[in-house]
Amino acid sequence: MNYLLRGIGVLAATGTVVALAFTLPPGVARGDGGENLLPRLSHKAWQEECGSCHVAYPPSLLPKASWRKLMGGLDQHFGENASLDPAVQADILRFLETHSADSGAGRAGGKVLRRMEKNAAPLRITETGWFVHEHDEVPRAAWSRKSVGSKANCSACHRQAEQGNYNEDAVRIPK
Ligand code: HEC
Ligand code: HEC
Repeated sequence: MNYLLRGIGVLAATGTVVALAFTLPPGVARGDGGENLLPRLSHKAWQEECGSCHVAYPPSLLPKASWRKLMGGLDQHFGENASLDPAVQADILRFLETHSADSGAGRAGGKVLRRMEKNAAPLRITETGWFVHEHDEVPRAAWSRKSVGSKANCSACHRQAEQGNYNEDAVRIPK
């Protein structure tokens, strides 16, 4: 079903999505009327610069303080130098903050914050209480499979992670 038809279906079903649609923050793709935990976001510099070594991780899975810390240390980024031109860096940070867990922008943020200490600023999504809880059904051995390699390798299991789709129907743990 295309987005338009689905949108109409959702509107007819709830009537409340209309109001939501007008409060979507900038960068949220149309047609993602809130039925997904994570909205599909578009921001060119973020996708290009933060999606080259791994998927561009969803900003709503970490609070602002995490993104500030992470963007302030790109020269020593998990053993890599991921430095950026200062203007590009500032632009990406603004985008990450706008959609962060504590921006109030999406459904995922609340879930993430509920399992996090106040003022915590973890650098890894994969070490948050939310992530651990959400993935507690993944067999321990699966994380260390060659085909996965790292918890941070979202796209090994979330086959459409590069398109920003983490929905359950697109998950498959590789052998
Ligand atoms: C030069 C390659 C490179 C670039 C460019 C890069 N990263 Fe990373 N990033 C890494 C590596 C390597 C890791 C560690 C992956 C692992 O543990 O498997 C990582 C991990 C992360 C993590 C933690 C993942 C977890 O475990 O939850 C976040 C968040 C992150 N990067 C955000 C960013 C952002 C934001 C940008 C853009 C400003 C960016 N990265 C650009 C290489 C890169
Ligand atoms: C080893 C495979 C695997 C890896 C790697 C993985 N996930 Fe998952 N993820 C799963 C499984 C399995 C579920 C649970 C699906 C279900 O509930 O049926 C899940 C659930 C989720 C959900 C909830 C989906 C929903 O609609 O409720 C999100 C969001 C998510 N993962 C994000 C991530 C992110 C971000 C990363 C990388 C930082 C990641 N995952 C890495 C397997 C994985």
